Amino acid sequence: MDRGGPRGGIPARDTRAVRNRLLLVLVGVVALVLAIHDIPLAGHLNRVERDRLVTTLERDAFIIAGRAEEALEEGTAADEPALRALVARYSFEEDVRVAIVDRDATGVVASQAADLAEDFSNRPEFAQALGGEPTTDDRFSATLGEELFFVAVPVLSGDDVVGAVRISAPSRIVDDRASDRVRGLLFVALISLLIAIAVAWLFARTLAQPIRRLRLATDDLAAGDLGVRADDDDGPPEVRALATSFNSMAGRLEQLVDRQRAFAGTASHQLRTPLTALRLRLEQLADQVDSGQAETVDAALVETDRLHRMIEGLLALSRADDAAVGPVEVDVAAVVHDRAVYWTPLAAERGVTVVADAPETATGFAVAGATEQIIDNLVDNALEVSPDGSELILRLVPDDHHLELHVIDAGPGLSEEDRGAAFDRFWRGADAVPGGSGLGLAIVRQLAAAGDASTELREASTGGVDAVVTFRA
Ligand SMILES: Nc1ncnc2c1ncn2[C@@H]1O[C@H](COP(=O)(O)OP(=O)(O)O)[C@@H](O)[C@H]1O
Ligand SMILES: [Mg+2]
Repeated sequence: MDRGGPRGGIPARDTRAVRNRLLLVLVGVVALVLAIHDIPLAGHLNRVERDRLVTTLERDAFIIAGRAEEALEEGTAADEPALRALVARYSFEEDVRVAIVDRDATGVVASQAADLAEDFSNRPEFAQALGGEPTTDDRFSATLGEELFFVAVPVLSGDDVVGAVRISAPSRIVDDRASDRVRGLLFVALISLLIAIAVAWLFARTLAQPIRRLRLATDDLAAGDLGVRADDDDGPPEVRALATSFNSMAGRLEQLVDRQRAFAGTASHQLRTPLTALRLRLEQLADQVDSGQAETVDAALVETDRLHRMIEGLLALSRADDAAVGPVEVDVAAVVHDRAVYWTPLAAERGVTVVADAPETATGFAVAGATEQIIDNLVDNALEVSPDGSELILRLVPDDHHLELHVIDAGPGLSEEDRGAAFDRFWRGADAVPGGSGLGLAIVRQLAAAGDASTELREASTGGVDAVVTFRA
């Protein structure tokens, strides 16, 4: 069965929409949790990085202070090559500067030549360090044109402050390190989000899949497959319960329809015997009554024949209902030729010529044996209305995908409204010849539909009816 086409059920995109909405919600929740978690964390990381840098710089400043103590005390710091080398080598990171001052706040050793012999007494950090207090601060440096971050520590000799060491670094080092950490954090968040998407997708899928299967089963039931059952031991409990309900509904429906079909079949079958008996009695009666009453008995016989045809028609319809066997490949052209031969003498009795206009062979899909009945019913109708001396055309037109069967008569035709109504069960035209059942075209349509063929009445160019049955090639 074609699962892609419109089948009157819930469209596939609906279950997909359920899944997508679920996915969106799950991913949204994860993203929200990550955001709540990570945004304050970024601020916190900035503080942590700054504290770490302060600790490192302070430690280094104290180490340098320790090495400088003796030289500063003796006032020989400026001539101490080892100290100069230590300061010059100290390049903890780019743009990190070291300056050692004596107790008068004059630069004696520095990583930057400009700082040598410089008077630092107006710098608050040196003032504080020379007062014996280590200090940490941020300041905008007009000289360097950027925000600086520094630590300054006193150089102590016993209780005496003999100088001070300052290490300064651009504030951006702290920011860079913090943003590196934040980037790492974002990367982890991104991975978490991807995992969340994958999990959400899987979860939504396992939920949507059983619903999708249930939908397909519903569509099949709607398309007339009463034997279809849904899988009721897979998926979440609610869906399983739904599948169980669906199954009991489908089972009940199948039972009811089967029973009704069987009833129509048996009822028509059971009516046959008493009807045959009734006909026999009427025939006997016709021989016994006088000519005045014979007309009434003849009319009764006609009605009996009509009843007989109706019962045969109903039986044929109920058999067509049961023809759930599906279409098989049939040489429709061969059937057309065969039926033309069969009908030719019967038509000749009414002065009608049967013309078969069909290729040698042309294969299409039809329920086995149905094509003969379809043609017979259509020719029967056409012959009924064909005027003496006219042609009754049986035409088969094959194209790439279809076989179009036409039964064309030169009769009076039908109005557009009647052409639609003629397929209804028991519908008969106002000037239909007595004796018909009104079931012929209903049977045609039913048999055709069982083989996926479509039926329609058109207006023929002669003004008569062009009955068309379109088979799948
Ligand atoms: N070829 C035709 N030309 C004119 N009327 C037709 C033709 N075929 C069918 N009809 C009309 O459609 C009605 C229904 O046809 P059908 O279902 O075969 O029942 P029945 O032949 O038993 O009356 C007919 O009674 C007739 O009025
Ligand atoms: Mg008929």
